Amino acid sequence: MDRWEGKVAVVTGASSGIGKSIATELVERGMIVVGLARRMELVQDLSNSLTGRKGKLFAVKADVGKEDDVAEAFDWVRKNLGGVHVLVNNAGIGTYSLLSNMDREEYKRVQACLNTNVMGVVMCSNEAIKLMREKGIVDGHIININSVLGHFISRRLGIHFYNATKHAVTVLTEGLRRELVEAKSKIRVTSISPGFVLTNIMDGIEVPNRNEIMANSPILRTDDVTNSVIHSLAAPADVQIAEIIVRPVGEEA
Ligand SMILES: NC(=O)c1ccc[n+]([C@@H]2O[C@H](COP(=O)([O-])OP(=O)(O)OC[C@H]3O[C@@H](n4cnc5c(N)ncnc54)[C@H](OP(=O)(O)O)[C@@H]3O)[C@@H](O)[C@H]2O)c1
Repeated sequence: MDRWEGKVAVVTGASSGIGKSIATELVERGMIVVGLARRMELVQDLSNSLTGRKGKLFAVKADVGKEDDVAEAFDWVRKNLGGVHVLVNNAGIGTYSLLSNMDREEYKRVQACLNTNVMGVVMCSNEAIKLMREKGIVDGHIININSVLGHFISRRLGIHFYNATKHAVTVLTEGLRRELVEAKSKIRVTSISPGFVLTNIMDGIEVPNRNEIMANSPILRTDDVTNSVIHSLAAPADVQIAEIIVRPVGEEA
């Protein structure tokens, strides 16, 4: 990890859960981290709590599903920090929606899920690559926080829209890797696909049997995912960890 010390990382969704854990660890390892979130004040609180650590965390307000917000956030990075070396596309939202029974309100909820989980990844990756190229950063790294649901079709009803957004992340990660290979770029692309992780992702979503699911499912801690991020970043510059699937022991399909 030493080569990343003093380098700039953008982490989307740094205000809670997995993103908060990743941002914290990158600061501990000496990186200059820009944490994007809609609830910027939570990222600012985290930044304050990290005062005096090896690196530094800056809070920038952005909804990654909005083109203007993404452009402004990366402009902030360009103006204030110069370039970006690492992007962690972590921001994501869940949804519980039956595909055969949606109304207009539900369309809005799944649209927000699509904008964040898919367009957020597409737009942030593009802005990051543009900035890397502009600043001559040839060995950047883009890490997408995907899901095991990016790799199979869930048996659980209500989750298939989210399931589809994560399949999109799997395809977009590999598609981007192939484009970068074609362009003879050394920028690395990694997909990290966790199973169930203890976070607030299900807050505000009406999932039937939610308490039962939470009580009876093996579950990862956010640090377990962060460890995979560190493993991917720490690999030698000519080694690309393309995919990591990390699941709690005993997790069913
Ligand atoms: N928890 C799990 O079981 C699990 C399993 C596999 C994969 N994942 C993936 O892990 C990632 C992180 O989720 P989590 O479990 O840590 O959930 P979380 O605790 O709810 O955190 C989600 C983060 O994403 C941010 N976010 C959501 N929508 C955003 C938007 N439009 N623009 C900017 N930031 C946005 C939230 O910040 P604001 O609300 O402040 O904007 C928050 O910081 C997601 O991509 C999720 O799909 C989670």
